[in-house]
Amino acid sequence: MLQDAKKGKYAIPQFNINNLEWTKYILEECEKEKIPIILGVSEGASKYMGGYFVVSQMVQGLIKDLNITIPVCLHLDHGSSFESCKKAMDSGFTSVMIDASKFAIDKNIEITKKVVDYAHERGISVEAEVGHIGGSEDGVSNEIYHATLDDCINLYIATGVDSLAPALGSVHGLYKGLPNLNFERMKLINDSLPIPLVLHGGTGIPDKDIKKAISCGISKININTELQIAWHNAVLEFVKENPNVYDPRKVIGSGQAAIKKAIDDKINLFFNR
Ligand code: 13P
Repeated sequence: MLQDAKKGKYAIPQFNINNLEWTKYILEECEKEKIPIILGVSEGASKYMGGYFVVSQMVQGLIKDLNITIPVCLHLDHGSSFESCKKAMDSGFTSVMIDASKFAIDKNIEITKKVVDYAHERGISVEAEVGHIGGSEDGVSNEIYHATLDDCINLYIATGVDSLAPALGSVHGLYKGLPNLNFERMKLINDSLPIPLVLHGGTGIPDKDIKKAISCGISKININTELQIAWHNAVLEFVKENPNVYDPRKVIGSGQAAIKKAIDDKINLFFNR
């Protein structure tokens, strides 16, 4: 998926999932739009849903029952250790991110290599992170620390990782002020590596910066918070107008149209439609 996106100068969305409904809405909308999709699952979201095996079986069940024909990648977002990545792979995930970016680059390379070796024996792809993406993921806060070209090249050569998320100023969650992405370094890293680059923290990045990032080689963009906010606003409205409706299917489902609209907007932007 990502190699095609890199060649075609578009970006595949990773939409993070939080529950059955989220997953169903994303699959339905992406099937309607006929685009390949990456379902991102953080360790916290997986725990919330019951575990990696539950998530994997749920996704496989939805693909079958909803007659989904588009390519679907089930991806562990920010796997924090080899053991966590292994568990996801053994449970049926088709791709994992090992995020060893909290360690010095040598240790990051060592852990990433271990994950890549295990994954590639099983036809599973691996994403790694260099530098620190800011904001908070599953409640863990990070300072922004930009990736260097040397670290990216060294990690790629030593590990053979399939895609790379170089931290270049983006943050998870909402930005304080406007995002300030280092496009120059993004392009430099892209021109120096044969693998696709990933942009985390897609929420709140203005459309023109998303387009610029894609032109600088970004082939995958992660979106989580934006779908949560779209859902939350719609559900708040519904609850305000229908305080006596207690059927969870109606309450949770009242966010469906808003999530699908947010998904459509991202697809149009990422696929240059
Ligand atoms: P946002 O929550 O900012 O959209 O970031 C999502 C992300 O990067 C998941 O890895």
